[in-house]
Amino acid sequence: MKKTALITGATSGIGRATAHEFAKHGINLILCGRRQERLDTIEKALSKQTNVHTLNFDVRDKKATFNAIESLPETFKHIDILINNAGNAHGLDPIETGNIEDWDAMLDINVKGLLYVSKAIIPIMTKNNSGHIINIGSSAGKEVYPKGNVYCGSKHAVLAITEGMRIDLNPYGIKVGAINPGLVETEFSKVRFKGDAIADTVYKGYKALQPEDIADIIYFVITRPTHVNIADLLVFPTAQASSTIVNKNI
Ligand SMILES: NC(=O)c1ccc[n+]([C@@H]2O[C@H](COP(=O)([O-])OP(=O)(O)OC[C@H]3O[C@@H](n4cnc5c(N)ncnc54)[C@H](OP(=O)(O)O)[C@@H]3O)[C@@H](O)[C@H]2O)c1
Repeated sequence: MKKTALITGATSGIGRATAHEFAKHGINLILCGRRQERLDTIEKALSKQTNVHTLNFDVRDKKATFNAIESLPETFKHIDILINNAGNAHGLDPIETGNIEDWDAMLDINVKGLLYVSKAIIPIMTKNNSGHIINIGSSAGKEVYPKGNVYCGSKHAVLAITEGMRIDLNPYGIKVGAINPGLVETEFSKVRFKGDAIADTVYKGYKALQPEDIADIIYFVITRPTHVNIADLLVFPTAQASSTIVNKNI
């Protein structure tokens, strides 16, 4: 039977590349994001390969999140795979001058949004005694870097929540794991630096990971045999050794 996956943040970057990868393999897709035009474009493109349903909601909005998942047509209600990917960094400032709105955005989206979506979907998985949840964390969830303070905090939280989910959902046979990328060339820096020119320099001078690299890994993770759960994975571009060490001379 065809599996059904719900991907948050499917309008860009890692989420969109994962949608394309899953579509190639005929996985039914529920694609989420806030930009309707992009949802329409991706639905149109991928409907040639698989069944696609789109949901437009802000993961910060608890009610909208529950309503959206509740509204799924019967044919999309049996969710086998959840990719909790929606998230961003907002700003890169020392803690003493950090912007409170940026802090709110990161904690509300990366942490609470992930929890709201999970809360709405976990009952489907516990009822079925099966399922697979992949949380997209970050190398920032494993290592704190200068000015990374709250973003790193949000991704450390994602890792702790992933471990907690894996423990609590263990009796139901549900797989839970985190994929933690280093530098991936997406719209991430545009969002982080709010369109500032510095965003264009982040991926210059070395070969950053591409969203398709992460999509490839996610597909590998979801296609392991039933008894195999990849619990935690850290992936850097070859040029990157840690959050602060990037070799721009290779
Ligand atoms: N790029 C990197 O270097 C990197 C490294 C490590 C981890 N990550 C993580 O990877 C994930 C995906 O990031 P990306 O690099 O693919 O960035 P991206 O290209 O900016 O994509 C972010 C996605 O999240 C969605 N999103 C953001 N805020 C949302 C909200 N409030 N409600 C619903 N959806 C929201 C966006 O869709 P809409 O704007 O349409 O809502 C978009 O589809 C994030 O969790 C990020 O922290 C990225």
